[in-house]
Amino acid sequence: MDTLRYGFVGGGFITAFQLRAVEQVRGIEVTGLTSRTPPEVLATWARDRGLGPARVYESVAAMAADVDVIVVNTPNSVRVDTMEQIAQAVRDGGLRPRGLICDKPLARNLAEARRVLELAKQIGAPTAYFENQIHMKVLQTARAQLEPVIATMGPLGLARSAEEHAGPHSAWFWDPTQQGGGVLSDMGCHCLAVGWYLLTPPGRDPRFLEPVRVSADVGLLKWGRSPYREQLLERFGVDYRATPAEDFATGMVTYRNPDTGDLSKAQFTVSWMYDKQGLRLLVDGLGPGYALEANSLRSPLEVFVGDAAAASVADAESALEKATASQGLMAIQPNEADLYGYVDEQRDAHAAFVAGRSALLDFDYGYDIVRLTMAAYLSAEEGRTVDLTDPATLATLDSYVPLIQQGRGQEVLR
Ligand SMILES: NC(=O)c1ccc[n+]([C@@H]2O[C@H](COP(=O)([O-])OP(=O)(O)OC[C@H]3O[C@@H](n4cnc5c(N)ncnc54)[C@H](O)[C@@H]3O)[C@@H](O)[C@H]2O)c1
Repeated sequence: MDTLRYGFVGGGFITAFQLRAVEQVRGIEVTGLTSRTPPEVLATWARDRGLGPARVYESVAAMAADVDVIVVNTPNSVRVDTMEQIAQAVRDGGLRPRGLICDKPLARNLAEARRVLELAKQIGAPTAYFENQIHMKVLQTARAQLEPVIATMGPLGLARSAEEHAGPHSAWFWDPTQQGGGVLSDMGCHCLAVGWYLLTPPGRDPRFLEPVRVSADVGLLKWGRSPYREQLLERFGVDYRATPAEDFATGMVTYRNPDTGDLSKAQFTVSWMYDKQGLRLLVDGLGPGYALEANSLRSPLEVFVGDAAAASVADAESALEKATASQGLMAIQPNEADLYGYVDEQRDAHAAFVAGRSALLDFDYGYDIVRLTMAAYLSAEEGRTVDLTDPATLATLDSYVPLIQQGRGQEVLR
């Protein structure tokens, strides 16, 4: 087993989750971490678990000579800047990466995504676009179980994917100009990928089905209202009266099978106003004579904490990501890093990099997901279905920046 030395850029929420995943994967040494604020707590955590030396570096340039794989986990607004730093480290001769990982989304819009692709080509390493949900064991197991059925009966006709929770953990996610929008930019990318992948016949490339049209609608259903708008301002310093973003989005993508001409549809729903136990991923698929369904809130483990005992529970999120309650009947997920696909996306990327190739989902795939996200924003903005087979529409999308991303959300969400 080839051991690859990993260097993480950005030491926040997703890096913490990925370290919990890396703990369950062989062949990855956590060599370094660099972030705006030195990520000492994460580094200590990684060292304590024997994941590697986990040294804290001042910069990408300082870390470059010591690592084989760079993981880009910085906020969306500094995605291009982080990639520029990596490309510079390669030009300076210190870095010879065997792999480059970027977590979702690849970028905030297609102009930025193109720059990320250009820089990745300059860097010259195989890539992995991290869309964890594609790698979820429940999803992969359902596809494996249904493979002979799909071969006999035909592929799925409809896929539905939803991701919902009560709202993100860092201020920059709420700020549409920094993050790229609201929940459609943040979580729509997951559901767009899941829908596309579920409809794709097993064994085919993840981009086999051709996206032909997108329709979407967005809304601001909780966080634009009083007193929640004021709570947001107080907690994160983000003013949704001046620069609102959507906290709900839904839509439909139609795909065409290039072999048969058959059309299939993927519906997505995302929200930051899901005030239930915590993060819920809901997926279902319908094919001729068969179906699948998964709900991440269903756990074989339930814990009940009554009012009298609740004072002793300190951290609601020890039960579940984004949990907002620490009493009552709680769904507990003992291994969320595995449940959400973080473990298997790491395994897939590691195996690919050792073999000198890109992962199942590469940066080009990430680019296509940005295009679907942009098409969804355009559809919601203009109240029309966006035709992805029309060259003029594709040219529009190339330079399109959604009004919400520009900080002009009032014009869309009024
Ligand atoms: N796959 C998933 O489900 C998932 C979940 C959460 C986040 N993400 C993605 O991961 C990325 C990071 O999100 P997060 O939740 O970890 O954010 P976060 O706010 O928790 O952490 C961001 C980290 O980046 C650091 N940082 C900020 N600016 C920097 C800069 N210029 N240079 C170096 N470091 C900088 C911060 O200090 C912080 O440690 C985002 O692109 C987000 O979309 C993916």
